[in-house]
Amino acid sequence: MIMRLISIVAMTPGRLIGRDGRLPWHVPEDLRFFKRTTTGHAVIMGRKTYESMNRPLPNRRNIVITRQPSYMPQVRHTESADDTAAATPPVVKSTLDVVGSLDAAIELCRARKEPDAFIIGGAQIYSAAMDRVDEMIITKIEGDYEGDTFFPEWPAEEWVDAGPVDPAFPAATRYVRRAGAKG
Ligand SMILES: NC(=O)c1ccc[n+]([C@@H]2O[C@H](COP(=O)([O-])OP(=O)(O)OC[C@H]3O[C@@H](n4cnc5c(N)ncnc54)[C@H](OP(=O)(O)O)[C@@H]3O)[C@@H](O)[C@H]2O)c1
Repeated sequence: MIMRLISIVAMTPGRLIGRDGRLPWHVPEDLRFFKRTTTGHAVIMGRKTYESMNRPLPNRRNIVITRQPSYMPQVRHTESADDTAAATPPVVKSTLDVVGSLDAAIELCRARKEPDAFIIGGAQIYSAAMDRVDEMIITKIEGDYEGDTFFPEWPAEEWVDAGPVDPAFPAATRYVRRAGAKG
């Protein structure tokens, strides 16, 4: 089975994605969209993005990338913005793996026969994955925000705008890599 590797991100038109290790905004509709899109799947993230939550996302197979060989992720037992329906029965067991590279994360997902694996940030991991992903799901954030972390630029000619992902949330657009354009 061929696994789809998908970056999912919320950004301003200026590609801003983060501020002081967190999201610069609070957009509940986007959090709900993120949750329903990624639930039941593998989510791959950098160590800093993991630490902005300090807990695995529920109902997802969480994979954290770090260069620290003996990194021990903290697991905080409190609810987060992603727990919009805490009473919902688990869809899949939440797991947490730590790996040393993006390649190792992708290999782990392939070995587990994941149909889809989501790259969920942050900037360093989006950059490392840019030549590898098959799709990007981008939520356009409107408003005037300041921050320090940006989504990488991408070669527009290699990507096709495939339209809104979800009619209930038109702010999110799917981009599909043009055939033969994979790096
Ligand atoms: N708007 C959005 O959709 C969105 C989504 C996610 C995150 N964010 C934001 O993005 C910001 C965090 O992004 P970030 O770029 O600073 O950090 P990040 O990508 O989340 O994590 C960076 C860390 O990942 C590890 N890493 C990176 N490249 C690696 C590689 N090639 N091999 C092994 N390990 C590697 C390193 O961990 P070690 O230092 O432990 O080695 C590095 O310090 C936060 O503000 C967060 O809120 C926004």
